[in-house]
Formats: sequence, structure tokens, C-alpha cells
Amino acid sequence: MPQLQKARVIVAGALGKMGKSAVETFLANSDRFELVAAVVRDLGNVDEKVKQEFKDRGVKLTDNIEAELHKGGLDILVELTTPDSVFHNSKLALNNGVRPVIGATGLSDDDINELNALSQKHSLGTIIAPNFALGAILMMKFAAQASKYMDRYEIIEKHHEAKIDSPSGTAIKTAKLISQNAKAKNQSPHASEISRGELHYGVPIHSLRLQGYVASQEVIFGGQGQTLTISHETIDRSSFMPGILLAAEKVMDLDRLVYGLENLI
Ligand SMILES: NC(=O)c1ccc[n+]([C@@H]2O[C@H](COP(=O)([O-])OP(=O)(O)OC[C@H]3O[C@@H](n4cnc5c(N)ncnc54)[C@H](OP(=O)(O)O)[C@@H]3O)[C@@H](O)[C@H]2O)c1
Repeated sequence: MPQLQKARVIVAGALGKMGKSAVETFLANSDRFELVAAVVRDLGNVDEKVKQEFKDRGVKLTDNIEAELHKGGLDILVELTTPDSVFHNSKLALNNGVRPVIGATGLSDDDINELNALSQKHSLGTIIAPNFALGAILMMKFAAQASKYMDRYEIIEKHHEAKIDSPSGTAIKTAKLISQNAKAKNQSPHASEISRGELHYGVPIHSLRLQGYVASQEVIFGGQGQTLTISHETIDRSSFMPGILLAAEKVMDLDRLVYGLENLI
């Protein structure tokens, strides 16, 4: 039987919370992917034991992404760093023939437009996925569908205390999708009262920041004599890994930039 070609992957931000999980995920899926290299901010700060672990597993640990991308032979950059590096790294990837799968936040509209133009110029796929949790993506899609039939809708999103932004990007995205699909404009009563939530695209969003939550969201619909609740809960970061794998598979067949996994499933 002919051997399937494995996609060759480099993970940036490899020692962060997401990056560590991504490294394990790609190594565990070595039938489909070859994890070639892992990028850290500063190799000098990395424990010798950690360096040895990567060496033993055949993954090059580096703090020079440019040199690694320049060498050639890579297919996918999985970008899980921070707002100060995500744009630079993604641009470098595209200019070196490597498809970015971007999970890190912090890209501006201008950055996204530039990456879009670069993807088109090189006919290379790029995926920007603000949320890799497939359950959350399905929640958004189901909510958009429900809004065609239900009259009223509100969102409650709950996150851990360390989350700086509120409402969450997922809640705002859900509100946008609902408003685009809704059969009628949401007539949210008494919406000007602060306790009625913050309106986004006409949808009240209520944000909770509490210990005990990772990330969860309920979209509650009201209709004549009935309610419908669509609810998603992230229990831990492993929830993001199937979405990363899916994006890494899909990006190989794209020749343009796609924003949001909801446009791929
Ligand atoms: N799309 C999604 O579903 C999703 C889900 C969760 C999180 N995120 C996003 O994913 C990113 C990572 O999240 P996290 O929770 O893993 O954060 P984290 O634990 O802070 O990890 C970020 C890692 O990136 C490293 N880094 C920063 N700049 C770098 C560079 N130029 N080269 C190589 N490594 C660099 C950091 O190193 P230092 O510690 O040395 O700075 C750190 O190890 C964030 O932007 C977060 O918002 C996305």
C-alpha cells in the first residue's frame, strides 16, 4: 500500500499552556503529522531536562523560527504564541511557503487583511481560529439555526477570573451570527438597564467571571410558550486539540485564508 505523505509541522509557543498540549497532540498523531520543530521565545531560559526530552522525541527545539522556516520542507506553522509575535511569525511562514494555523489572539483587522493578501499571493491556506473548541463552534452554528425560528435570545457567558476581555469573543461572534440569521429583530425588553446585559448586534450578553469556570456559554431562546437553551462547557484545554488537528488537516487543501472553524465544518 502506498505510504501517505505526512504533513510536516512546526509549533510556535511550544512551552506555553496551549503549545505543550499541541506538541503532545501532534506526537500522538504521528501517523498523519510529523512534528519537526518547536519554537520557544528564548532557548537560554529552557531547562536542560526539557531540551533533552524534545531531543529524545526527535523534535528540534529552537528560538530561531526564521532560520527554521527558511530551511524549507515544512508544511504547517501552528501559531500559539502571544499578540506581540503572532503576526510576524505568520507572515514569515507564508513568505516561506508554510501554511499558518493561528490560534493566538491579537491580530488586528489590518494584520488579517495583510495575511489574507499574502495567502492569495502565494496560493497557500491560512486558518485563523479564535476558538478551536469544536463544541463551541457547533453551539454557534446551532444558535444561528435556532434564531430563524425563535423570537427572543440572550447569551450568558462564564469564564475564569483571569480572563481580561468581556464579553468573550465567542459570545460576540455568536451574537453576530444570530443577528444575521434571525427571523425578526430581537425586541429585548428594558435593554437600557445595566443589569439586562450589554447589547451586541442587538443581543444582550451577560458575562460572569468566577472561580471554577474555564469557559462556558449558554444561548437561551424564548418563543411562544417555550424556551430553548443551547449550552457549551469547556472543561479543560484538551478541548482545543481536536480543532487544532482538524485545522491542520484542512489547511493543507486550502489556497486562501479562512477565519473561524465554523466556516470549515
Ligand atoms: N484559539 C483558541 O481556541 C485558543 C484557546 C486558548 C488560548 N488561545 C490563545 O493562544 C495563545 C497561547 O495561549 P496559552 O494559554 O498557551 O498562553 P501561554 O501559556 O502564555 O503561552 C504562550 C507561549 O508563547 C511563548 N512565546 C511568546 N512569544 C514567543 C515567540 N516569539 N516565539 C516563541 N514562543 C513565544 C511564551 O513564552 P514566554 O513565556 O517566554 O513569553 C509562552 O510560552 C494566546 O494568544 C491565547 O489567547 C487560543
